[in-house]
Amino acid sequence: MRVNTQNAEFIRSAAKISDCPRDRLPQIAFAGRSNVGKSSVINRILNRKNLARVGSAPGKTTHINYFLIDKKVYLVDLPGYGYAKVSKQERARWGKLIEQWFADTSLMTLGVLIVDLRHKPTADDCVMAQWFKNAGCPFVVVANKHDKIKKSEWAPNLARIRETLELDEDTPVISFSAEKGLGKEELLQVIFDHVTGGEAEAR
Ligand code: GTP
Ligand code: MG
Repeated sequence: MRVNTQNAEFIRSAAKISDCPRDRLPQIAFAGRSNVGKSSVINRILNRKNLARVGSAPGKTTHINYFLIDKKVYLVDLPGYGYAKVSKQERARWGKLIEQWFADTSLMTLGVLIVDLRHKPTADDCVMAQWFKNAGCPFVVVANKHDKIKKSEWAPNLARIRETLELDEDTPVISFSAEKGLGKEELLQVIFDHVTGGEAEAR
């Protein structure tokens, strides 16, 4: 089955879990710290400049944004975490929404955790990795902002991510640059394999 990434549409912004589509199509969830580049990664793999809005005000996106690709698979932009300046109330709302998202096993079929290749994953990143590990579906890690570090840092920084997040060998870590396009094909392949029900589950 081919997936035409040119055919992408914004479906809805879900403020509560009951607004999430339940039509048995696969749902690929993108999670990561606020400002890590979730929306930019989605835009990059879909070749769109601004489909998933690249936030100028981090932490303001407390909705779950749904994009439907070729009527076959949802890309789900989960609200970012770890932004210092959000109110207590907003943080609590985020926590509740994410908790409900992970608790509802009928939703996510593949997880994509986006971290910043420049830095050691934060405590919040580790918590999020644990949520994905417990979710019972496959997940991959995308190490974004590759263009921002020196060549000598590529390998050690990747190793630090794998180690800090305590990933097992089966979990791929994809070097990515939403800015330059590096890693796009590799991530798309994971997504296509997942949609066609092939290898992704076996990974
Ligand atoms: P929230 O929606 O607020 O949670 O943020 P987000 O994770 O969606 O991040 P977003 O895509 O809005 O990107 C945040 C900032 O990082 C923007 O200024 C992007 O242009 C920049 N950015 C994202 N990816 C990259 C990358 O790979 N390289 C560089 N140099 N900048 C990037
Ligand atoms: Mg965003």
